[in-house]
Amino acid sequence: MRHGHDADGEHTSSRRAFIRTSSVGMTAALVATSAAGAALAAPVSLVQEARVAGRPLAVTPACDGHETPAATEGPLFKPQSPERTDFLTPAVRGVQLDLSGIVYDTACKPLPGSLIEFWQCDQNGDYDTAGFSLRGHQYTNSRGAFRLRTIIPRDYWGRWGRRAPHIHTQVQAPGGPVLVTQLYFPDDTQAYGRNFAALNASDRLLNRACTITLAGPQGGYTGAFDFVIQTTAT
Ligand SMILES: [Fe+2]
Repeated sequence: MRHGHDADGEHTSSRRAFIRTSSVGMTAALVATSAAGAALAAPVSLVQEARVAGRPLAVTPACDGHETPAATEGPLFKPQSPERTDFLTPAVRGVQLDLSGIVYDTACKPLPGSLIEFWQCDQNGDYDTAGFSLRGHQYTNSRGAFRLRTIIPRDYWGRWGRRAPHIHTQVQAPGGPVLVTQLYFPDDTQAYGRNFAALNASDRLLNRACTITLAGPQGGYTGAFDFVIQTTAT
């Protein structure tokens, strides 16, 4: 059973070193060649083609002017994270995820220079509360684009019950209000031997509109998600 969670509902053992689990489970997930994996072969190709051609990735949801839904921040945000686009370190051993997308305003205009914070738990469901592993911020480039190299987080037991795997984010256009939300994973995601469909179905905070478009898992996942945010306070 999982342990080490406090009344705040999330992880407490800030001094506990990140557990390095066997990579057997991860390897199994990466090399799995199930029907679900085969079905995702086409999106991998489309994503790669888009990259080669320098086109923005097709993402879900596409920008239709509807603001990305907000979600609770949770208790484990830490300010003053380092600026970086790569969360992978020797201590971070999980199913890799290359996540990218565009930040738009509600008129679907890309927003360069937008601040994006990401924070998430690791392959064991643990947040780093002592340091900044799997935490960081970055700014969108001249096309309003961002890219983050990270891992698929694991589910964990917290304040709101069992949480489906998710990545916390804050997004803010220059001078604009902060959108706080959480990103989720498709039901057929393969990582850590977990049943993402069941985890997603039982997470009462989950919002399907915030599901990352995923291609993989061979060689790690490629993910895409576009944000649509307000640029002025309403
Ligand atoms: Fe969380």
